[in-house]
Amino acid sequence: MSFKVSVQPAGREFTVEPGQTILDAALASGMILPYSCRNGTCSTCRGRVVSGSYDAGPAPARILEADDLARGYTLLCQARPTSDVVIEAEEVRMSGDIVVRKMPVRVQALTPLAADVMEVTLQLPSAEAFRFQPGQYLEFLFKDGRRRSYSMACAQAVDHRVQLHVRHMPGGAFTDRVFGRGDEPLKARDILRIEGPLGSFFLRADDRPIIFLASGTGFAPIKAIIEGMLGRGDRRAAVLYWGGRRPADLYQAELASGWRARLPGFRFVPVVSDALPEDGWAGRTGWVHQAVMTDFPDLSGHQVYACGAPPMVEAARHDFVHQRGLSPQAFHADAFTSEADRAEVQA
Ligand code: FES
Repeated sequence: MSFKVSVQPAGREFTVEPGQTILDAALASGMILPYSCRNGTCSTCRGRVVSGSYDAGPAPARILEADDLARGYTLLCQARPTSDVVIEAEEVRMSGDIVVRKMPVRVQALTPLAADVMEVTLQLPSAEAFRFQPGQYLEFLFKDGRRRSYSMACAQAVDHRVQLHVRHMPGGAFTDRVFGRGDEPLKARDILRIEGPLGSFFLRADDRPIIFLASGTGFAPIKAIIEGMLGRGDRRAAVLYWGGRRPADLYQAELASGWRARLPGFRFVPVVSDALPEDGWAGRTGWVHQAVMTDFPDLSGHQVYACGAPPMVEAARHDFVHQRGLSPQAFHADAFTSEADRAEVQA
């Protein structure tokens, strides 16, 4: 049986067919709700069910807080209605010329950025432009049905090329290939298949000052967003906090430092959690979201864009909203979920 979903405050409606999730039905209807992983591991699709009944699946109880669950919040990529429902969720407005497509791509170059981070440059088909919002991601589609998501680390496809930042996860089937391990190491000229652009992580039109928060390769989509700002001559005040365990994890810190000269309202704050004496680190230490908490007693007038490991993103969302007065609607996130994260949620 199909059910109707009404979305507040947008005042839009769509129909969910049997077996569909609310998010899938929204996207199929042409309405974009916030999403990232689509498999119940990141919480980007968090929304509130105001009325009606639904099957939430097991994921929300694992990653949402008890008080949010009690207030009707759930994961819209997992929720299947069992009656007509009314939900509260942000409608994401995207340029109409952005079309999600599947296409073959050729590996153009593999460039090490750090011992465990590879820049992968993909050559896209030249017949059609690949348009995306800086901050969005693509998915590799593998023959066995698995998919792997990576954000574009560039603001646009120049010469039909995009760059991704791939961190090596030892034992991870795809990243082992990227780092030359296994039976089928990835090399220039190899052909892969992708779908994209995907996701709702991009800069919203607004004039509030921005806090960018990145851990590890969560830097990639934020780099894309900031380079988009550079391209437009955007003068919004923005601070980038980028955290890693060791200084080497901030693999393009010099590039980020250089943005200040071109963006008058920009600052870069590198944060390292586990520096060793031989690193000679004299900068900020600790957890990256805690550095923001220390520097900003009040975030009520800010927008935050956070990307990185799910625990960092969730800690930031919770602490910024509950302890620093950030509007929940002003927190935009993309959580990088690994195969291990997915396995844990689906177990
Ligand atoms: Fe639903 Fe990630 S998009 S949990």
